[in-house]
Amino acid sequence: MRSIEWKNGKVRIIDQTKLPGKLVFLDISDIGRMREAIKQLKVRGAPAIGVAGALGLYLGIKNSRAAGYASFKAELGRKADYLASSRPTAKNLFGALSRIIRAAEEHSELPPEKIKKVILNEALAIISEDAASCAGISVNGARLFKNRERVLTVCNAGALATAGCGTALGVIYKAHALGKIAKVYSCETRPLLQGARLTCYELRNNGVDVTLICDNMAAALMAQGKIDRVIAGADRIALNGDSANKIGTYSLAVLAHYHRIPFYIAAPVSSFDFSLCSGAGIPIEERDPFEVTGMFFRSPAAPPGTKVYNPAFDVTPAGLITAIITDRGVLKPPYPDKIRRLAETAGAR
Ligand code: MRU
Repeated sequence: MRSIEWKNGKVRIIDQTKLPGKLVFLDISDIGRMREAIKQLKVRGAPAIGVAGALGLYLGIKNSRAAGYASFKAELGRKADYLASSRPTAKNLFGALSRIIRAAEEHSELPPEKIKKVILNEALAIISEDAASCAGISVNGARLFKNRERVLTVCNAGALATAGCGTALGVIYKAHALGKIAKVYSCETRPLLQGARLTCYELRNNGVDVTLICDNMAAALMAQGKIDRVIAGADRIALNGDSANKIGTYSLAVLAHYHRIPFYIAAPVSSFDFSLCSGAGIPIEERDPFEVTGMFFRSPAAPPGTKVYNPAFDVTPAGLITAIITDRGVLKPPYPDKIRRLAETAGAR
């Protein structure tokens, strides 16, 4: 099951807003629909959004009539900005768009028709690199687990969120295959229920024992000794290790710290933002109040006109993170020098 792929000249995605009820595939052939799909979380999860952005940019310029490089480049820049305005937090979206623009710049001597091919190839390379990153994260992370552990996760950082087997869930799949996972608890992840709808769907389909809890039940489970480790994905990681992920991740890290339970972030190098010293600079998306009051209720969950604050992400301070599991190895605190070294090797690619 691929959450996003390039098929017959179109981008095929699983419409994640329809899960778990229906498995619906959408074939996207224009940039406008791709931007909407990202914004509405039809395709979601930081790495998958990166892939969607790269392929979306190709869709946006594939019919360009620009005759020379200067006008082609200007059009590419405008369309990249348009896609970048869909969601602000995941580094992968901006990283993938910049990478496509760089690839075009490196081939500026070619006619636009040939640069288009370079762009498609670059987008396809992002897909295969992400799949390889997930595999690397899984192997590196599974080593941290002992036997038959009980793991808590939040949101969905699985195959649905990437072009591979996932980041946090990739680690769980690998550890499960090695007999190291007894069961997984999935936080439902209010307000959009990625944990309930997507993580439970994915884990059940893959034969992993999963139990759904409401977000406010995590502390009680930890106090009862039912959780051995917590693992989550990331949308953007700063140089000091501060990590943005789905709203509620920070609370889990605080709770894990109090209960002395290891708390891991699992993410590819493409989710690191080497330009940010700390998480204070990470833009946090705010979404429609309706997601909190109406999306999953038959009648509104609050009186009409109630003020709603709906941040989609929070930042977990590096000090609460036991380790950051990447495709290039497992980073342990103190993070800054290790992340700087990661930046040097990433820059060298
Ligand atoms: O709003 P979403 O569903 O895109 O949020 C996704 C997450 O928070 C994931 O944990 C993160 O992007 C990592 S996905 C491998």
